[in-house]
Amino acid sequence: MNINDLRKLVLTRLGEGATYDHCVATEKCMAALAARFGEDEHLWAMTGLAHDLDLNECNEDLSDHTLIAKDVLEREQAPIALINAVLGHNDKAPRTTRLAKALWVVDPATGMITASALVRPSRSTADLTVKSIKKRMKDKRFAAAVNRDQIRACESELQIPLDEFLQLCLTAMQP
Ligand SMILES: [Fe+2]
Repeated sequence: MNINDLRKLVLTRLGEGATYDHCVATEKCMAALAARFGEDEHLWAMTGLAHDLDLNECNEDLSDHTLIAKDVLEREQAPIALINAVLGHNDKAPRTTRLAKALWVVDPATGMITASALVRPSRSTADLTVKSIKKRMKDKRFAAAVNRDQIRACESELQIPLDEFLQLCLTAMQP
């Protein structure tokens, strides 16, 4: 399975819209992070793109989120490291690899960056800064569902300072 096949699969299951856009943003950030670490950019990009592919089909409480994706991805013979990372981001498998840890940290970061962009007059990441994202992170009422601690775990889980991590993701998401 290559990334073009996966893109078709994800689009078929999610349709166009916010969740698909979030998957693409996660794909871009994961690829940038892989480049930073000298890891497999293709595998990391695919993991980001795939991670929420079952979101429209799973229970409201997300109890089966990633379990449906696992079956779909296994049928498509996706790499086992990708499947384990996808499961890991919803606590359905231990996050033992750098890939799994990265996905878990990048997921809320893309959410925070998108939310921070949408309240700008431009509604774009083009003129967004790390300083502004960090200010939004400090405001607990802003995008309250986004877990800040999980974003800050870039330092403990990936050994990347928060500023560098946010800048890397922001740059990856800019048009
Ligand atoms: Fe996600």
